Order: sequence, then C-alpha cells, then structure tokens
Amino acid sequence: MPTSKLPIVILISGSGSNLQAIIDATGKDKLPVDIRAVISNRPDAGGLQRASRAQLHTAVIDHTQFHDRETFGAALSQCIDNFEPKLVVLAGFMRLLTDDFVNHYSGRILNIHPSLLPAFKGLNTHVRALAAFKEGTVKKHGASVHFVTAELDGGPVILQARLPITQNDSPETLATRVLKREHQIYPQAIRWFAEDRLCLQGNQVWLDGRVLNTPVVVDHS
Ligand code: GRF
Repeated sequence: MPTSKLPIVILISGSGSNLQAIIDATGKDKLPVDIRAVISNRPDAGGLQRASRAQLHTAVIDHTQFHDRETFGAALSQCIDNFEPKLVVLAGFMRLLTDDFVNHYSGRILNIHPSLLPAFKGLNTHVRALAAFKEGTVKKHGASVHFVTAELDGGPVILQARLPITQNDSPETLATRVLKREHQIYPQAIRWFAEDRLCLQGNQVWLDGRVLNTPVVVDHS
C-alpha cells in the first residue's frame, strides 16, 4: 500500500455534498488523498463554500464564458493539470465533456451517477426510476461509481449502492436515500484507487488483481 497521499482534483457544479463526503473521509476515515483543488463550472456552486471552509484551493472555469465545449474543455483541463492530479473526481459536475478531455484523463477519471447503471443514464433519474417502479418494470434504484469514458454515463461501473423503491417514495425521498448512499460508495471507490487496488485497463475494471466482470454491489434493504 502506498504511503503517500494520492493527489486529486474534484470537479463540481452544485451543492457539493459528495465533495463534503470526500473531505470528511480524509479526516475521520483517513482516506489517503490530497485534494489539490476543487474546480466548479458555476461561480455560485455551494460546493465552493464547502471547499473554502476546508481550506482547499478553489477555481471557477465558467462554461458560459466559452463559445463551445472544445474551448471550455481545453481551459478546464489546463486548470486541472496545473495541480498535477493522479485522479480527477467528478462530483455532481453537470457539463458534458469532449472526447479529447475524457481521453486525456483515460483511466484516471471517476464519476458518480444516481442510478443503477446502465439503467437511467442522463438526467432526472429518480423521476424515471419511480415511473418504472409504478409500471412494475423496476424494483430497485441506487447509485453507481464508474470510470468516465467518451459515452455519457457509459464507462465501466466499479461500485453500486442498491436500495428498494417503496410505494411511499416520491422522487425527493428517493433522491435523499440515494444521495446518502452516494456519500458512502464514492469515498470507498476513491480509496481503492488511492490504495492502488483499482484500475482501468482497456475497457476492463481491475480490483485487487482481478477483472471485475460485474460491479461490486452494496445492498441496502
Ligand atoms: C448527485 O446525485 C450526483 O450523483 C449527481 O449530482 C448530484 C450531485 O450532488 N451527479 P452533490 O453536488 O454532490 O450534492
């Protein structure tokens, strides 16, 4: 196990509760990462305040100041690379990334998505999962940590938290329960990477020296 901390950069767009979970894990759970910077594409992202409170370096690359995704992506990666991270962590980062950007960080960029991928890629996952539950086609929902590839929410999945949908659920209650589990599985997957237990080779996830044919699933009943 490496003795030094893994340098990481975290990208956010919103409230940053996943960012907070990672920050907290560096303290109480000794997650071996050095958060070199938190970068937001939105100047008003609540997560920036969380980062400042934790005395982390922050930066804003405002996507509205760029003509297209390519120039935004180039500016973003230049900013990231200044901090020389070995892992880029997307934590509620809500911009589509270009192929060039994703390929530049191939094998060292993670995302968390609020569904049991490959189900419900894209937006409004909780509404869609609840609708599928009401149609009788889905019983469970959850969140997935995956390596990022050029396909939106399509990269190889590492770890999932799975929980039952109930008759009483609304999109909001479902979102709250899923988010709570996100805060557990994201630090866990980052730990595996930081401890050199996890990597991507080609399109295959390796964990503890074995190919992961199916994601690790943490079931909550
Ligand atoms: C999370 O549900 C995450 O999975 C999704 O956006 C939400 C971000 O939440 N990509 P937060 O900003 O970490 O609180």
